[in-house]
Amino acid sequence: MGKTIAIANQKGGVGKTTTAINLGAALAAADMKVLVVDMDAQANCTSGLGTSKDCVQKSIYHSLVLDEPLKGIILDTDLENLKLIPADKNLTGAVVELIEVPEREFILKRLLCHVAGQFDFVIVDTPPSLNVLTLNALVAADSVLIPIQCEYFALEGVTDLLETLNRVRSNYNPDLSILGVVLTMFDERTNLANQVRADLKNFFSGKMLNTVIPRNVRLAEAPSFGKPIIIYDIRSKGAESYVNLAREILNHEKESVG
Ligand SMILES: Nc1ncnc2c1ncn2[C@@H]1O[C@H](COP(=O)(O)OP(=O)(O)O)[C@@H](O)[C@H]1O
Ligand SMILES: [Mg+2]
Repeated sequence: MGKTIAIANQKGGVGKTTTAINLGAALAAADMKVLVVDMDAQANCTSGLGTSKDCVQKSIYHSLVLDEPLKGIILDTDLENLKLIPADKNLTGAVVELIEVPEREFILKRLLCHVAGQFDFVIVDTPPSLNVLTLNALVAADSVLIPIQCEYFALEGVTDLLETLNRVRSNYNPDLSILGVVLTMFDERTNLANQVRADLKNFFSGKMLNTVIPRNVRLAEAPSFGKPIIIYDIRSKGAESYVNLAREILNHEKESVG
């Protein structure tokens, strides 16, 4: 049974989707079988992995709301080991459509049970809110990876996220752990970034990952070509940093098993 990692931070634009795509690709390049699940109606993860939003015939919406098995929804990507469950704009309505459904927080977990055995890692990208879709991701996950952008208001909303994690643990998923916090769009030349990094280290202590993702224009360009960074420009700093992140997470997993 694969490890399921939810990528969450209800702030928008902090690098969740970039991390889902590129961590997924870097793990796949390390010979892991990886499934990326796009739970955001904006479907940026879907298009960033090469499937145009308008070409999606069936998405995670069809499984969550219409009970279609995930098996028929999984798509290939440019990397053999990397598969995708796409999103589409129907997901916007899912939040309302699921309101009356009993145990609606557990739908993704139940769906994934049938396919997770084929993968070493399932990575779930979440929307920028703490809605029922994000809850489904956190309930299905073994651990959560929190990308934080190194800027002045970096910690804003983090206490809400931590409260949500506690609520998920007490009500739905007692085993949910924090895999770590990864700093994104880091610019080591600025005092602000270094100051924010020091503050975050204090706040999260042992949960800060060593790998830091730098601000790198190639990372911002890659999605418009529908390619993960390791295919778009393997020599970029961005590619190097996501390869390092995958390595750190693989070591982490080895330690927690052995
Ligand atoms: N390390 C980075 N360097 C440069 N641009 C980045 C980096 N990470 C993300 N971006 C860009 O910042 C924007 C927001 O990132 P995204 O991953 O979509 O955040 P989220 O999913 O949290 O909303 C996107 O345009 C993305 O291409
Ligand atoms: Mg996103």
